[in-house]
Amino acid sequence: SGLQREVDALLADYLARKRTNSGNFPSAAFSRSSSTDSFATDEGFFDQQDNQTSTSAVMERIQRRKSLQLRNQQAAWQESNDGQSMMEFRRSLPAYKEKQTLLEAISQNQVVVVSGETGCGKTTQLPQYILESEIDAARGATCSIICTQPRRISAIAVSERVAAERGEKIGESVGYKVRLEGMRGRDTRLLFCTTGVLLRRLLVDRNLKGVTHVIVDEIHERGMNEDFLLIVLKDLLPRRPELRLMLMSATLNAELFSSYFGGAPMIHIPGFTYPVRNHFLEDILEFTGHRLTPYNQIDDYGQEKSWKMQKQALRKRKSQIASAVEERPGAVLVFMTGWDDINALKEQLQANPLLGDPSKVLLLACHGSMASSEQKLIFDKPEPGVRKIVLATNLAETSITINDVVFVVDCGKAKETSYDALNNTPCLLPTWISKASARQRRGRAGRVQPGECYHLYPRCVYDSFADYQLPELLRTPLQSLCLQIKSLRLGSISEFLSRALQSPESLSVQNAIEYLKVIGAFDQNEELTVLGKHLSMLPVEPKLGKMLIFGAIFNCLDPILTIVSGLSVRDPFLTPFDKKDLAESAKLQFSCRDYSDHLALVRAYEGWREAERDRAGYDYCWKNFLSVQTLKAIDSLRRQFLFLLKDTGLVDENMTLCNKWSRDENLVRAVICAGLYPGISSIVNKEKSISLKTMEDGQVMLYSSSVNGKEAKIPFPWLVFNEKVKVNSVFLRDSTAISDSILLLFGGNIKQGGLDGHLKMLGGYLEFFMSRDLASTYLSLKNELENLIHCK
Ligand code: CDP
Ligand code: MG
Repeated sequence: SGLQREVDALLADYLARKRTNSGNFPSAAFSRSSSTDSFATDEGFFDQQDNQTSTSAVMERIQRRKSLQLRNQQAAWQESNDGQSMMEFRRSLPAYKEKQTLLEAISQNQVVVVSGETGCGKTTQLPQYILESEIDAARGATCSIICTQPRRISAIAVSERVAAERGEKIGESVGYKVRLEGMRGRDTRLLFCTTGVLLRRLLVDRNLKGVTHVIVDEIHERGMNEDFLLIVLKDLLPRRPELRLMLMSATLNAELFSSYFGGAPMIHIPGFTYPVRNHFLEDILEFTGHRLTPYNQIDDYGQEKSWKMQKQALRKRKSQIASAVEERPGAVLVFMTGWDDINALKEQLQANPLLGDPSKVLLLACHGSMASSEQKLIFDKPEPGVRKIVLATNLAETSITINDVVFVVDCGKAKETSYDALNNTPCLLPTWISKASARQRRGRAGRVQPGECYHLYPRCVYDSFADYQLPELLRTPLQSLCLQIKSLRLGSISEFLSRALQSPESLSVQNAIEYLKVIGAFDQNEELTVLGKHLSMLPVEPKLGKMLIFGAIFNCLDPILTIVSGLSVRDPFLTPFDKKDLAESAKLQFSCRDYSDHLALVRAYEGWREAERDRAGYDYCWKNFLSVQTLKAIDSLRRQFLFLLKDTGLVDENMTLCNKWSRDENLVRAVICAGLYPGISSIVNKEKSISLKTMEDGQVMLYSSSVNGKEAKIPFPWLVFNEKVKVNSVFLRDSTAISDSILLLFGGNIKQGGLDGHLKMLGGYLEFFMSRDLASTYLSLKNELENLIHCK
């Protein structure tokens, strides 16, 4: 506490000097930059540039004191009782044996690649080793370590764990930052964040000023952001010779990454796992007297003709697995393809339990958006005699470790987005996993004792799996990425992407660039337009960003905030699979025959807000098949987006005008169209049904859960849609019907349209809105424009 007082006194002194130097301190040091992400701007004043020798001498003293203080705190914790038992646990992890090797490699090389089985201590230990060694060397106050995670949930979970291992609360020396949410303080020296957050920081801080170590975790997953980040960091390293970069991976293909960074040293952490017995489908088929028909082609599996046999076999298999599980304790981890499957299976298992007494079974679902209370249950050991069963997506493959798993059931598939560049259509299909994933899944069973893994497919199918999954960069649309490349001023998009670990097809790149031109984010020379600059600062897909911006300009913000939040969280309308019809007609009530899923969402949300005021929110949701959690998430996201829009100056602080036209349904449709264009299909009303066509796909379908899905007639010529997905045929997700005039005025990059005089004039106005200080000048023009729309 003596030190603390001294530090406080020095700080007060520093602030006083700073104020006299710069006149307007502290607001200047804390003011937000034009960035929409506060990452770089609230780092605290240690990062402020300071040319005054007197103040920098004080700074140094403060930092020295602070470092000593951190060292004392750390030592005190490690000597305490709790600290000692925590240290004992940490020393038992395989990573501990490599601690010195790791630290030496890091001090002698700019880039180090570390691999080791999941659970060996890469994520929780390695960043901590660095932090501790910096603190021990009395550099605690000057080090700044960033460790990226591909998913929000792991960034939060890991930071909480590491803070607990250091005997601290989150937000002290360890913190986290994920999109629109974070916990860190002025003294946070180790920050876990999502890869996207670090990329956005690079927008405003190209050299990562003040950062001493960057750790990119889970690189084996080959997510798009991670691949992108690696290109940027590779460029940055020569500019920042002191910066240290570590790449961490759960699998052994470290060579790929090492050679990408000019032969960076690789360190493997040998892990100990218990043996896991493999059971393939044929094992049980033989056991039950079936003979496996030869699977010459992988496609045969699951096809109609073998389906009956499969089903019989699986039924037997199910009971065999159940009796094997009953023989000994241990948690069961089931890998499923996605959120819908997990929910369906969960309901099924609750209705007819496989494992005897249901009160002795703790059935949990594990997915990216679960609540943190649920999350805790997954890691905790259940009470004695209670069987924990976790139904998970591939999230549980590497980024989350559940210690007490003994049985793994692997369905062999994962829902994977892929991208059909030829048709410019994203697909979301359950696809076979890779051998690396299958091995990972199996490995989850052998953490505490020998385990069993049941693969629900034959060995020959396993043999035909690819070794590794295709990198995301090669299988998703690249629009947001291209926008980021330009806003980071990284030069030509194709040239930049050609330097990736594996470069995407040039057709995919061209499609993305073309899209950004069509929506008006790029000009003809592939440079950012003013709209493009605004879009790159909003942490949402370009189409949603454009909708927000237009909602703000046209003063109908409230419904647009709801729609954009809904589209970026998930659909709040639930369709339990045994009550599908009831749920769909409940949704239809929100439509009021205006042929729009988006407007139905707005009504459902507003109804919920109303009901909440009378404390009847739950009843309302129950009656209308709505998810309370999702509506709450939408509610909080709405607030965050509003904050961002105020921050960028698109909405004035008092929000005087931004909802003036919120009740004008036509204008809201127009803004939806502005965002979703060119996602558009034509409507042809036939005698008893409608037929929908898009330019690229020809005939397309609507999901039956869409309010337009059951209509026999839609009195509008066009539908704008949020997303199309190729399942068997192409399906449109969430659509809104629009008129010709809306399409004409709001579809596409009006600026380039050149369709007629109107359009040119309108284009000129929009450009004007985007390029000037928006607050005052657009109002008069907007009235004219609105008249234009309303008389159509
Ligand atoms: O990153 P890696 O998969 O190598 O392992 P980790 O996430 O650092 O976890 C190392 C060990 O810490 C695990 O084996 C768990 O025993 C423990 N751990 C925990 O108890 N609770 C957590 N939330 C995370 C990790
Ligand atoms: Mg990890």
